[in-house]
Amino acid sequence: AFAAGPSLLTSCMDHGMNGEAPTIKDGEFKTALKIPVTINATSSLSAQVGRDTLAAAGEVAVLGYGGGLLGPTIRVQKNQNVNLNFTNELTEHTNIHWHGLVIPAAMDGHPDHMVMPNKSFNFQFAVNQQAGTNWYHPHLHGLTGKQVTEGLAGLFIIESDEEKALNLPSGVHEIPLIIQDKRLNANGTIKYNPAMTEVMTGFMGDTILVNGTHKPFLEVGTRFYRFRVLNGSTARIYNLALSNGADFYVIGSDGGILPQPERVKTLMLGSGERADILIDFSDVAVGKMVYLMNEEFSGMGDAQGKQTYKIMSFDVNRSENEDFMLPASLIPFTKLSGASQTRPFKLTMSMGHSKAGMHKINGKVFDAARIDQSVSFGATEIWEFDNSTGDEAHPMHVHGVQFQVVARTGGRNTILPQEKGWKDTVLLAPKEKVQVIMKFEQKGKFVVHCHNLEHEDDGMMLNFEVV
Ligand code: C2O
Ligand code: CU
Ligand code: CU
Repeated sequence: AFAAGPSLLTSCMDHGMNGEAPTIKDGEFKTALKIPVTINATSSLSAQVGRDTLAAAGEVAVLGYGGGLLGPTIRVQKNQNVNLNFTNELTEHTNIHWHGLVIPAAMDGHPDHMVMPNKSFNFQFAVNQQAGTNWYHPHLHGLTGKQVTEGLAGLFIIESDEEKALNLPSGVHEIPLIIQDKRLNANGTIKYNPAMTEVMTGFMGDTILVNGTHKPFLEVGTRFYRFRVLNGSTARIYNLALSNGADFYVIGSDGGILPQPERVKTLMLGSGERADILIDFSDVAVGKMVYLMNEEFSGMGDAQGKQTYKIMSFDVNRSENEDFMLPASLIPFTKLSGASQTRPFKLTMSMGHSKAGMHKINGKVFDAARIDQSVSFGATEIWEFDNSTGDEAHPMHVHGVQFQVVARTGGRNTILPQEKGWKDTVLLAPKEKVQVIMKFEQKGKFVVHCHNLEHEDDGMMLNFEVV
């Protein structure tokens, strides 16, 4: 009765080892950036078929949580109780995973927790973690990549008094940027049919959307803006930069605000990762445009990074008085220590003749019924993701926690600016080992997986239980 995921492949004849990502076409940025509507902690959400305009072909059917592609931004305060009634209006099963939230397992959207068509589920949980930019999306084994690609995703923003005291740019100066690549059919509908090579590399599109907008522009004034950036693509990695070569500032990682602003020229985000950034347009002449770019990169596997292209345009159209000063420090950060053990997670990819299960963790593919790791409630542990023999990048994600990156060896051999705070997803390049430390404060069954959603759906996911 369930729709088939990408593991239903027709043949393994069509593969070579090196998948190529499709080329992103250049062009003008003439559509105003769409901004998702905001809802609060007590609302309702429906997964539904809606209509949206993604590119020149005009309005098409898409999935979303509110009539068009994507869903509303849920904005809550730290310590607030969330009560969201979710209804599945689709003809296939779905669910919601709250990516980044540290909440009880029964509310986390484990692949076991399905909401069948025409059924509802009431999500009730308290938000006790620090301010940050989290997100939500379906999490069904074998269908996550398809449903996210077709439009099911949204932001979940947590605010706190501590954060408000920083007086960061807000209101019209605080903009979410959900970056996703799509492949569109000639009639404008979204295509999702990963071939075997694209299960290996990830399924990449030729059309970059920001908040569901193709080739968007945003009119800005000559001042600082705060952007909450989500790489909501299934597989494509972005190396963000500004076309005028200006520096910008990372002020937040996946799940929180950094201890101090990190000044950067480029910012790499793997699937599922977020960054809170500040861009200062005060030196840009009114009438000029600054593009948010992907700057070509290497070292992330053969299919990634081979092109520099524009993602969106910031059209500086007015001078505005600056009322914001970049603070020297942001929100203090206590380093976790005293891990009781280091748990290894070996990441491998082997081409088989079977249609699924090429990507493994510790030699295993996902089995919903098997518990792979048992963790003591309250324990602090180091988890080591080992991609030392791999040829592909893997953004590794753990449910039920926020972690801290303690070391990266091999490859880039360093902790990156966007990793100097709370994280739930960490990008491993080929040849790298990364250690993260975390404290397990929610009981129950969770998953750890690669957030390249084609890898995840292929089985690169394990269960762990906190007992
Ligand atoms: Cu955003 Cu388990 O995923
Ligand atoms: Cu998650
Ligand atoms: Cu992966």
